[in-house]
Amino acid sequence: MTTDAGRRPFIAGNWKMNLDHLQGIALVQKLAWTLKDAGFDRGSVEIAVFPPFTDIRSVQTLIDADDHALAYGAQDLSPHDSGAYTGDVSGQFLAALGCTYVLIGHSERRTGHGETDEVVNAKVLAAVRHGLVPVICVGETEAELEEHGTSAVPVAQTRAALAGVAPGTPVVIAYEPVWAIGTGKVATPETAQQVGAAIRGAVQEVLGADDAAATRILYGGSVKSGNIAGFMRQPDVDGALVGGASLDPAEFAGIARFPQHLGV
Ligand code: 13P
Repeated sequence: MTTDAGRRPFIAGNWKMNLDHLQGIALVQKLAWTLKDAGFDRGSVEIAVFPPFTDIRSVQTLIDADDHALAYGAQDLSPHDSGAYTGDVSGQFLAALGCTYVLIGHSERRTGHGETDEVVNAKVLAAVRHGLVPVICVGETEAELEEHGTSAVPVAQTRAALAGVAPGTPVVIAYEPVWAIGTGKVATPETAQQVGAAIRGAVQEVLGADDAAATRILYGGSVKSGNIAGFMRQPDVDGALVGGASLDPAEFAGIARFPQHLGV
C-alpha cells in the first residue's frame, strides 16, 4: 500500500542500547516469523530495525540468509569518513554492512551527547556521501513547547539538518516530541499531523515541492499497536519511529500491521 500521496508507509524500530547480537538475532527471527504467520504482505509497509552497532553484522547475515522483508540501519554515525576519531563509526562501514538507513539527531544524542544542529547537519551530509538514507530526528522539549509553541523547534531543526543537501536526495524525518519519548505520554494524532505538515513545508523550502511530496515523515513517542492507527490516518504522518515497543516482536509486528486496524 501507499499513503494517499503515494508514499510507502515506514515503521522503524529503534532498539536504543538494548539487545546484544545474540538477543538481536532472536528478536529478528521472532519478528520475521510473527509477520509471516500473520500473512504480512511485504510490499505493503516498509519495516526497518535499528540495532546497536555491534549487532548489525549479525542482523545483516540473518536477513540476507532468510530473505526477510526487513531493512536495517544504525542509530548514529560519525560526521567524518575515516581517521583519528576513536570510538566513531564511519558511514562507509555502515554502507558496507548493507545498512539502508541511519538515525541522526535523536533527542537522546542531542541532549546526552551535546549534538547541536551543526553536528546533526554534518552527520546528515556524511550519511548522504555514503549512500545512506538519513532518518533525521527532530522534536521539542516540554519547555520549548511552552516557549515556542507547536512546530517551531521541529521546523527549525529540519531546516538546519537539511542545509547543503541536494534536491533529489532521499531523506526521512521523524518528529519525536521529547516529552513523549519513553514516557507513555503520546502526542495526539492531530498534533502529529500539524507538526508533520509544518515539517513538510520546511522540506519544501529547502529541497523543493517534489522532494517534500516524496519525503516520509514519521511520528515517534510512545507508539503502540493500540495507538498507531490514529497516527496513520493523518495525511502528513507516513509511519512511526518506535522505541520501547520495538523490543517486543509481537507488539512491533502489531504496529507494522496497522493497515488491519485501518480496515484497508
Ligand atoms: P518510545 O517508543 O519508547 O517512546 O521511544 C521513542 C523513540 O525515542 C524512538 O526513537
